Amino acid sequence: MRAKASSRPKRSSTRKADGLGNAVFLVGFMGAGKSSVGRALGKLLSWDFEDLDDRIERREGRSVAEIFRHSGELEFRRAERRALQHILDDLRGGARVIALGGGAFVQESNAALLQASNAPTVFLDASVEELWQRCSKQAKEAGAERPLLGSQDQFRKLYEARRKSYKKASVLIQTGNRSVDAIAAEITELLGLRKIELRIEEGEAE
Ligand code: S3P
Repeated sequence: MRAKASSRPKRSSTRKADGLGNAVFLVGFMGAGKSSVGRALGKLLSWDFEDLDDRIERREGRSVAEIFRHSGELEFRRAERRALQHILDDLRGGARVIALGGGAFVQESNAALLQASNAPTVFLDASVEELWQRCSKQAKEAGAERPLLGSQDQFRKLYEARRKSYKKASVLIQTGNRSVDAIAAEITELLGLRKIELRIEEGEAE
């Protein structure tokens, strides 16, 4: 018997079945493509996607740029940590791909929280020249405001200082010149992630 259209779809997920947890966190420097790859990965797996910076902005009621401008980086990091904890507390709600801001994983307390959660972390990397090109283009074309963009020289120094922290992630993926879909497929393969099947259960018609 076919279920009626008004039946509520029931989620059947393979999460936890392979011990990888129900979330994947994308880390890496500004311009690494964490949000666009995250969206593509979420779509591929039928997992929800969330951007940590969006959660911070919703919780704080102002943009990341405004937090930096009016309260400084230290206050931003505190808000970032609270938002990350909030996301981790929420994970029971379903499978999710989460993109972190470029500095989040570098904070040791955040990296420790993620490690304790057992969720895999994926370091998306590219050459610093390419990262700079992408960020400059986004600033020019989309008006993307990045408080820590700075000069090309400052950008390079910050990337170099942070790279060893990013390398603590579970896997590293080079993104240079590849489509977001190809990168999402590689992450799925490497981590053995599985799509959530949405199915209509028989006899569940209302
Ligand atoms: C930051 C990166 C930004 C944002 C904030 C701080 C950083 O996110 O979280 O401006 O410290 O590198 P993106 O990496 O998405 O640009």
